[in-house]
Amino acid sequence: MSVKILNSFNVQDQGKAKEQFALDVLKGLSTKPKEIPSKYFYDDEGSRLFSQIMESEDYYLTDCEIEVFEKNKKDIAQKIGHSNINIIELGAGDGRKTKILIDQFLKENLSFKYTSIDISKEAIVQIDRLFKEEFPALEHTGVVGEYTGGLDWVSDNQSGRKLVLFLGSTIGNFDRPNALVFLRVLWKHLNNDDLLLIGFDLKKEIDLMLLAYNDREGITKKFNFNLLTRMNNELGANFDLKNFMHFGTYNPNVGAMESFIISTCAQEVYVGELEKTFKFKAFEPIHLEYSHKYLISDIESFAMETGFEVLNHYFDSNHFYTNSLWRVKKEMPNG
Ligand code: AVJ
Repeated sequence: MSVKILNSFNVQDQGKAKEQFALDVLKGLSTKPKEIPSKYFYDDEGSRLFSQIMESEDYYLTDCEIEVFEKNKKDIAQKIGHSNINIIELGAGDGRKTKILIDQFLKENLSFKYTSIDISKEAIVQIDRLFKEEFPALEHTGVVGEYTGGLDWVSDNQSGRKLVLFLGSTIGNFDRPNALVFLRVLWKHLNNDDLLLIGFDLKKEIDLMLLAYNDREGITKKFNFNLLTRMNNELGANFDLKNFMHFGTYNPNVGAMESFIISTCAQEVYVGELEKTFKFKAFEPIHLEYSHKYLISDIESFAMETGFEVLNHYFDSNHFYTNSLWRVKKEMPNG
């Protein structure tokens, strides 16, 4: 594998990344209600905990996506066709789902290269280890960075047709305006006829969603609390974890699962890096994450508004989840 580490992730720029984290925490803990952006979940430990979530019985999303791929991998391969293609994955996670597609594409002798973009270097190293074992001949490039920087790198360094994978309903972390901006930025980085395979968790019975984000093993709680530990370790904060609780709930107005950490008592937390004390009232929340849930009509309007044509929606047998295959539509300037 060749690994590209993008500028803001270089060792000499680690200071900058930390400074940005500190500023986002300053902003987030000064806002009412308090909030921390969910992208900060994914340090190496956070990525490891998220892999555990994906393996947990209560988190149905991963099982659904695996079922979608197992059932439809032949059809997906066929739609991609036989020309050379660069497969680019945003936030590959541990590669378990992607593996199913790659395996099928190789069986059908499609010719392609694989690039994974992730903010966790550890996640990329792990995916490389897995794919080396499973697919020794596969060319893998790992790009450590945020999605936009990663896409810039891809546009500058890879030519030819592209298939972008954006799995796991990761889009659900964006609110609707930001999802539209993200999809349009993606569109901008692609050419006419390029493809996007994107996962969406669908609206469903609320109890199932509540369980997925309040799993019985308590992994989601650990995943959320890791953010407090991360602030303690990286920003010299003194969050006392036993004075906080995890709370995951469904907001039907927004159409999203939302995760909070709630201060169970009145307390003060000092953040060394900011030289600042933050006050928490009893039962005051910190908002950590939105995981939006969708209707097919939401998905189709996303595609339409951002310049894509929907080729197909692939479903699991319960219709809990969909992977939607989109084609980039660009009008050719006519003479
Ligand atoms: C990786 C953003 C898709 O929102 O379901 C899992 C993250 N958070 N459990 C999701 C997550 C709590 C996950 N995504």
